[in-house]
Amino acid sequence: MIMCGIIGCALRDGNAAPLIRKALERLEYRGYDSVGEATIDNSNLVIKKDQGKIADIHKKLDLDDLPGPTGIGHTRWATHGAPSQVNAHPHTDCKEKIAVVHNGIIENFVELREELERKGHKFKSRCDTEVIPHLIEENLNSDTDFIMAVRNTARRLEGTYAIAVLSVEKPDRLICIRKESPLVLGIGEEGNFCASDIPALLPLTRNIIYLNEGELAVLDPEGVELSDLESYTKRIPEIEEISWTVETAERAGYPHFMLKEINEQPETVKNALRTQEVYIDLMSTILDKADQVFLVAAGTAYHACLAGTYMFSELANLNAQAAIASEFKERYGKLIGKNSVILAVSQSGETMDTLSAIRYALDRGATVLGITNVMGSTVTRLTGIYIGQNSGPEIGVASTKAYTAQAMILARLAIKLGEKRKTISSDKVGKLNQTLKDMPSILERILKTQTNRTKDLATKYRDRESFCFLGRGIDYVTALEGRLKLLELAYPPSLAYPAGESKHGFIAVVEDGYPLIFIAPKTSTQNELIGNIMEMKARGGSIISITEEGDQKILALSDDFIEIPKGIPEILTPIPYILPLQLFAYYSALERNRDPDQPRNLAKSVTVK
Ligand code: M6R
Repeated sequence: MIMCGIIGCALRDGNAAPLIRKALERLEYRGYDSVGEATIDNSNLVIKKDQGKIADIHKKLDLDDLPGPTGIGHTRWATHGAPSQVNAHPHTDCKEKIAVVHNGIIENFVELREELERKGHKFKSRCDTEVIPHLIEENLNSDTDFIMAVRNTARRLEGTYAIAVLSVEKPDRLICIRKESPLVLGIGEEGNFCASDIPALLPLTRNIIYLNEGELAVLDPEGVELSDLESYTKRIPEIEEISWTVETAERAGYPHFMLKEINEQPETVKNALRTQEVYIDLMSTILDKADQVFLVAAGTAYHACLAGTYMFSELANLNAQAAIASEFKERYGKLIGKNSVILAVSQSGETMDTLSAIRYALDRGATVLGITNVMGSTVTRLTGIYIGQNSGPEIGVASTKAYTAQAMILARLAIKLGEKRKTISSDKVGKLNQTLKDMPSILERILKTQTNRTKDLATKYRDRESFCFLGRGIDYVTALEGRLKLLELAYPPSLAYPAGESKHGFIAVVEDGYPLIFIAPKTSTQNELIGNIMEMKARGGSIISITEEGDQKILALSDDFIEIPKGIPEILTPIPYILPLQLFAYYSALERNRDPDQPRNLAKSVTVK
């Protein structure tokens, strides 16, 4: 999970709060909508937390002014519960004796919360995390041992978590557990620490222990004890000395945020599948009843929408229009009314063109839904129902992990609507859902096997002044997005065409050695695509194909190729097939001495019209 940052400190003496605050600043890139700290003073838990950026909250509350050598801190990227003071971490039990910070998602929090409320627990927030301190409190009724109560709590949690627990019962101790979300421990001179990742710890210590999956750590100023959550087996900690600079560590060792974010996609597509089934169901019901559906967005999010229109049409017989937000009013304005549904898609939730289209549609009485990566953003405030992508902060200006997550969510919506409308067989639903579940490992494999090949292609074609990306059907969308990535990062003016349309004009451009990138999976239109490849080949074009592993027909026609695992259903190809094109754009930028994280003239969030 790439959202939220947590830190814990168990010092020999002095106050933990100033160290915690500074560590949180180094974790702020993981999330920045609210912040909080807890320490123990004279057997009492003391907490400061609020909504906003660390610097602002520090100015308002003086986060350093919390006494006690043991403490925890959190910087939040909201997933459950809007950004607010009450939803900010740490969360506590009824008696305010236990405090918890958490990074991840507790998928079964609704059931746990209902169960705990029936037992008399009083909840203060809307946040999934709050079930954890209450469950520990509940378990302490039967487990006399605090560590056992935390262990038994973890056994009840479904989802992902990195957790640090502080309790007045053991004021010099921290208990940490992790499942899927990252957590590292630091062994320092002044005491010991835990944190979501290494940058938070670097000025405090370079001696790091990586917590294993399903492991529990008990930390005090003198040492660390590790054991497996289930088997209780103890592990002797292996300390590694880190040589990274703080800056490199923030990017998890990657040279650029963009490369880090490309490599996070196995995880972010998994996050796009977590929870929110109830919203998928609700949204698909609303789409089902609409007279007209418009998917509205800008840039890469617009390409996700375009892919969505193919998915809705193919799987659910729904005629949805993809609209470029800045053209929405002029193109469709008068058509919009009470029975229109607008689904706005925006990574940042703040793109002015998208917000203007939303406001226009709301004024005309339309129903507006949203998909966004930023909880608390304007999109979440303007739309009636929205889905959070859970991709974590995207810092590279070029959108990568947000795009594949949006495509995953749109695919889930289209499948759900297809099920409701009975336009797809249950076999097909099963196959599609299985491929979505397999997507993390499919993407993992592409990254592992194709990154170097893509890098070599960027080197080989580093002097070409223009490229054309071509695909048929939904693969045309991948061509458009691949072109946008290359344009914005490496700047060669390039084209994207529906392959079938290319002979109606574009072909005039093709001459010896002109690079043509074909998105060429094994689909229902592959024979026609092969015809288009032959047309280009006959005019001397260099054929670079993104194709299925071992597809001899395409390989035989290609000068260069990238291979994608077999068996991806046609309608889901946009998700894996874009990865090599993101990498190609990234490495082309490096080859041409461009900065991939901050391309010229662009901004991450475009808040002007
Ligand atoms: O935050 P949004 O998804 O609304 O942003 C939309 C576009 O500005 C964005 O996708 C832009 O095109 C990216 N630079 C593409 O990589």
